[in-house]
Amino acid sequence: MTTPFQSKLGVHRDRVVEWVETGDTVPVTWELDLTNECQHRCHLCQGGRYPVGAHMGNEQIDRTIKQVAALGGRGLIFTGGGEPVLHDHLDAALALTTASGMDAALITNGGAGPRAWNVAVEHCTWVRFSMDAWDATSYKQTHGVGKAAWKQALGAIESCVAAKKHGQADVGAAFLCDAENETGMVAAARLARELGVDYFQVRPYHTTPKMERQRLDVERIMTPHFWERLHEAQRLGTSTFAVFASLPKYRRIEAKDFVRHYTKCWGQSFAATIAADCRLYLCCHARANQWLCLGDLTEATLEEIWFGPKRRRVVESLNLDGCVPLCRCDALNEELETIRATGQLPTRPDPPPLHPSFL
Ligand SMILES: C[S@@+](CC[C@H](N)C(=O)[O-])C[C@H]1O[C@@H](n2cnc3c(N)ncnc32)[C@H](O)[C@@H]1O
Ligand code: SF4
Ligand code: SF4
Repeated sequence: MTTPFQSKLGVHRDRVVEWVETGDTVPVTWELDLTNECQHRCHLCQGGRYPVGAHMGNEQIDRTIKQVAALGGRGLIFTGGGEPVLHDHLDAALALTTASGMDAALITNGGAGPRAWNVAVEHCTWVRFSMDAWDATSYKQTHGVGKAAWKQALGAIESCVAAKKHGQADVGAAFLCDAENETGMVAAARLARELGVDYFQVRPYHTTPKMERQRLDVERIMTPHFWERLHEAQRLGTSTFAVFASLPKYRRIEAKDFVRHYTKCWGQSFAATIAADCRLYLCCHARANQWLCLGDLTEATLEEIWFGPKRRRVVESLNLDGCVPLCRCDALNEELETIRATGQLPTRPDPPPLHPSFL
């Protein structure tokens, strides 16, 4: 398995051309939150779960998926918000996504009870479990829940791997890493390999209590033994199990390089977020932030919101100084700024990137 952190814009050259010519386009990748409910209490959850308990209705979910496809969506990630597998319409939504011609993906903590994973692995390009621990004690620390929930999470990963047939979803385990759990990174990677997942992904926290406006909490993320542990975890890789992390992002955190070399958030034209309150937000970090809300799907269609004056106003008035450093669209923004400056369009990558519909 190659790393998913490759440039994928060349695959969507048509959108880039449209953006260069008109200043805007329609998103390739969408995030959709079915619910803000969650049975876990992750201490640093960035799900933006306000309003608490928001739960999208089944008809609204179907309508939204069809509108995303009609607007030109190519990849739809079911995430949160809260926990997507707690919504009993998830499987139908995944099937509708692929039937509508899009690729689907799922980010989950594994859920609250037994579930059949065959629909998820059949319809998803990838399923990623937020593991973040290596035993019940460390899970309690990161996810705020007890032994039964840890057992549930491991059981869910095992069942998902078991349900997978050849050629179906890449199943992964993610490890949000900081000073509190870095010592267990290698143990977690080993456990993930034993559980039979395809990959183990080490990720930095974005939002932490001590982060500042233009600076992530470097001391908390870049612990003294981080690289040593990551390399040790990577040595566990096999022909069927990969261990990776976004190295460019980690190198920038280490160098305390949070400078943005772009003047506007260009990436918001290519990647969009719909939250469980049926509202469209400027990006995944803006969930629940009513200043950055672009419109309400119970009041207007997705197309009306996308091309409407409110979205234009929010995009135009965005002050990047208030944005999360190394945010969702940071790398995309850098790439798009270079395209603008040089006029050089991206070429189609060969070999093709992994998971091309997910920018
Ligand atoms: C908010 S969760 C919703 C989906 C699901 N409940 C889960 O935890 O996988 C979506 C993603 O955000 C990640 N996440 C949560 N808090 C974060 C933080 N402070 N910084 C970076 N990522 C975070 C989770 O690990 C997960 O990959
Ligand atoms: S499992 Fe996901 S949504 Fe739930 S608290 Fe943790 S990060 Fe937030
Ligand atoms: S946080 Fe990043 S993705 Fe979100 S609006 Fe700001 S620059 Fe764009």
